[in-house]
Amino acid sequence: MNPREMPKLALRPMLPADPPFLAEIFRASIEDLTADDYSAAQQEAWASAADDEEEFAAKLAGELTLVATFGGAAVGFASLADNTRIDMLYVHPTAAGQGAGAMLCDALEKLAGARGAKELTVDSSDTARGFFDKRGYVAKTRNTVTVGDEWLANTTMVKPLGDEGGNDAATDGDRESAS
Ligand SMILES: CC(C)(COP(=O)(O)OP(=O)(O)OC[C@H]1O[C@@H](n2cnc3c(N)ncnc32)[C@H](O)[C@@H]1OP(=O)(O)O)[C@@H](O)C(=O)NCCC(=O)NCCS
Repeated sequence: MNPREMPKLALRPMLPADPPFLAEIFRASIEDLTADDYSAAQQEAWASAADDEEEFAAKLAGELTLVATFGGAAVGFASLADNTRIDMLYVHPTAAGQGAGAMLCDALEKLAGARGAKELTVDSSDTARGFFDKRGYVAKTRNTVTVGDEWLANTTMVKPLGDEGGNDAATDGDRESAS
């Protein structure tokens, strides 16, 4: 096959038709990827955030939401709230481990930096903790949140963003951490 025709990972902003597909990714990601860290009841409570698809869509539309595609099909998404916090980051289990999460997170870090954020925060799931560790996020506090009848643990992690944020010339590679 011509390498130019090989399906590639790409990013685009969320479109109005996306939320039902993103809700599917959200549920599948929680169900298949987080079982080592959360009980079935906890996973169910977590995934129930997409039960009301209108509310789910409104939440994503109210944030800066990017979609990762592979060969044009949505395989993951991430959202930035208040230009300071990664709210959601979910990759479909069939696409996990292929760079979509990193591509989404890179883009949010660059966008937040370009808009003046000095640091980015995430309440990381226990599942994603290693992912954020690797990207230079530092654990600050351990939290327990209630969702329905369930208690779920997560960790607030923070990454300082470089000063060169909005510079187009600085779009490749990892951003240097402010020291
Ligand atoms: C966390 C998540 C978004 C990562 O997405 P992904 O597309 O699988 O990650 P990538 O393929 O881009 O991985 C990037 C790097 O992080 C590493 N990595 C990914 N997940 C990791 C984990 N859980 N622990 C440690 N390292 C991890 C990869 O090995 C890769 O390393 P490399 O650059 O040395 O090759 C995905 O696993 C997911 O959706 N998890 C379930 C939902 C969840 O917990 N979301 C977070 C809510 S805060």
